[in-house]
Amino acid sequence: MHELIEGRWSARGYDATAEISVDDLTSVLDAGRWAPTWGRVQPVRFVVGRRADDTFAGLTETLTRGNAGWAPASAALILVCTAAEPDDEKARTYAAVDVGLAVSQMILQANSIGFNAHPMAGFDAEKAVRRFAIPEDRRPLVLLGLGAVAAPEQVASDIRERDERPRTRLPLDEVAFADTWGHPFTSSPHP
Ligand SMILES: Cc1cc2nc3c(=O)[nH]c(=O)nc-3n(C[C@H](O)[C@H](O)[C@H](O)COP(=O)(O)O)c2cc1C
Repeated sequence: MHELIEGRWSARGYDATAEISVDDLTSVLDAGRWAPTWGRVQPVRFVVGRRADDTFAGLTETLTRGNAGWAPASAALILVCTAAEPDDEKARTYAAVDVGLAVSQMILQANSIGFNAHPMAGFDAEKAVRRFAIPEDRRPLVLLGLGAVAAPEQVASDIRERDERPRTRLPLDEVAFADTWGHPFTSSPHP
């Protein structure tokens, strides 16, 4: 795998004093803007806050309890919204796929410039809609924290303990199939 993908992880122990420049933050937003988009619809929108600005403060107020313990130390928070499409299941599904692709590219771009990026579903979407006057035709799906990983000794023990947990994934032969479902791709005969 590419080192950017291999080195990516969702940290929580962020340095609460680290800042992100507007240029760096813009590069992350551009990475999201240039993600593949179903039918060239481009349904994804961002609400962007840098620590200490009002938008950031508003975004931190939407965090659920579990995320409120670490995410306010982010250098920036980005609320990723997409088309609501209440009457069109296909459009609604792919509007969400577009978010996944945008967030993935944003995470890798952030990593490439020395920031960690951590996606969150743990926020109050309705509160965000009210606070930022998000129109009815959009829905917030993901809150993305960008932060500089702090030295372990600067991180509270409960957060450090979570960051130090081993990261695992299902083995490839349980998730990638060939011939028929359940038959591992890795043991398929290779022509
Ligand atoms: C859609 C989505 C929502 C997530 N929501 C949260 C969240 O609310 N809080 C959190 O700490 N992590 C959240 N995560 C991060 C996952 O916990 C993390 O990706 C997972 O534990 C795997 O760890 P890794 O990213 O380091 O590989 C979310 C990830 C995704 C993709």
